[in-house]
Formats: sequence, C-alpha cells, structure tokens
Amino acid sequence: MSELTQAQLLELVNTKKIAPGNARVRQLTERIVTDLFKTIDELDVTPDEFWAAAGWLTRLGAAGQTGLITAGLGFDRLLDIRADEADAKAGRAGGTPRAIEGPLFVAGAPMSQVEVRLDEGEPKGEVFVMEGQVLDLNGQPVPHASVDVWHANEVGGYSHFFPGMKPYELRRRIETDAKGQYRFRSFLPPGYAIPPNSPTSELFEALGRHGNRPAHIHFLVAAPGMRTLTTQVNIPGDTYIDDDFAFATRDGLIVALEKNVAPAGYESLGISAPFTRTKFNFVMQNAASADEALPLTRMERVSTPA
Ligand SMILES: [Fe+2]
Repeated sequence: MSELTQAQLLELVNTKKIAPGNARVRQLTERIVTDLFKTIDELDVTPDEFWAAAGWLTRLGAAGQTGLITAGLGFDRLLDIRADEADAKAGRAGGTPRAIEGPLFVAGAPMSQVEVRLDEGEPKGEVFVMEGQVLDLNGQPVPHASVDVWHANEVGGYSHFFPGMKPYELRRRIETDAKGQYRFRSFLPPGYAIPPNSPTSELFEALGRHGNRPAHIHFLVAAPGMRTLTTQVNIPGDTYIDDDFAFATRDGLIVALEKNVAPAGYESLGISAPFTRTKFNFVMQNAASADEALPLTRMERVSTPA
C-alpha cells in the first residue's frame, strides 16, 4: 500500500489498531478526525493555514490558555446547558442556577468559620459584604457547607495567575454555621479581559470579537449529601453584563446591591462606616449519587482516581 485517496487514508486512520484501546476514545477520535478531514477538504484548507493552526494550538497550550478558549468559544456554557437539559429531562429542578467554573480556580484556599475577609485587611475600592445562607430545596439550612469563593483583584487579575499577588489572595473557603449562614467582606471586583498579545487574543482579533467578561464572583458550594454547586454572581451595572465573552451570565445570578448599609453588627469584619451589601442565598439540590456530592472542581474530577 503506497498510494491512497483521502477516503482510504481516513479509513486507515480510523481503523488501525494492535490492541482494543479505549472504545470511547476511539469513537470520539474517529468522529473528530473525520470532521476535520471533511473541513480541510470542503474549505480547501491550505498547508500554511493548517500549520499556522497547529502552531497556534501549541502556543495556546504553552500559555495555559486552553480554558480561556473553551469558554470563549462557548464550550463551557454548552456543557452547562446540556446539564440543565439533562436535569429537566430527569425532573430535577430548582436551586441556584449553575454557572461556568472558568479556568482560574485554585484548590485549598484557607477555611474560616461563618465569616471571613477576602481582602486581607488591605481595603481596596468600595467596601463590600456578601452574606446569606446555604439552603436546601425545602428552604432548610445546610450546616457545615463549604463555600469556596474567588474573584479578581482591582485590575482584573487572579492570585496564582497574576504576578505580584499573594498566595490565595481573594480566595477563601467559608464553612457555614448551624443556620447555614456565611458572609464575607471584600471589594467589588471589576470586569476583566483576556490577556492582550496572547494566543487567545490573536484568535479573538481574527474573529472580530471582544474578550471582556463582566464583573463577577465565583463560588463552589459543597456539603455532604448535597449536589456540588458551581456558580458565579454578577455585579449589576457592568457594560458587558449581557455581552459576556464566556456567555456565562444567567438570570437569577445578578445580585442587587444595597448602598450605605449601617455598619452595626459588622464590626468583626473591620467595618465602621456605611458600606455596600448584597444578600444572596445558595440553594442546593440533594445529591442523587455520592459522585454528585464530591467537593471537586472540573479538573480535580478528571484527575482524581475513582
Ligand atoms: Fe472570573
């Protein structure tokens, strides 16, 4: 065998094996390779275009930006939409909507009981408190839930990714009390954009798209017997609230801000002047399996042996 047609080559690529391999991986690879062969032929992709794309993928991985592209091309939200559809089919409704995790979670943030400051005693911007309860679908408190919270700094950077920030800066875990209560003090984070002069920005410039995300705060809420909830809340008033690069904003996750709240009762958070507050309850579904209650993020799930 030396001369091959496109179809013969594709057949060989998709059928060759010396061992059973992994049937699911074989199935998915076959589909993706077949679709790409078709794309290259139908759109008459040139060798220069192909190798430019291969080089871009290499640079994307080296820059650690795979998770930015998956969000920007809609895959993260697609997986959430599919999860919502599966829930609807299974008759599972209610609770706080899920929202994409994003690529910037870091496990192991310091844990506090009931309340904490995320800003580590260095006031930046508007003093902000978010508080509420973790509840089940019947409105009952979920005690000892773990509320993992993380957000960007005043210029849109995340600790462990943005130079000059302390480990776990603006990242904390809060364990709820018997009433399911949590609260934290921080500042209102701004929106942010994909890094300029990066593989991600290159593609977005070529697509004529912006790379902005509206202001938001991330959460991962976990508790024994409850379905782990990954979500975000959005700060109202952001220019991009309905035009998110990552398509992640959702109804029910845009918080209301109360301005000029009296400081009484907030002394333990170092507050002595009127401040901005939002109240938000996280409502969790019961876990349908032990797997659903695992307090793991998306990459922990796929790298943790079952
Ligand atoms: Fe974010």
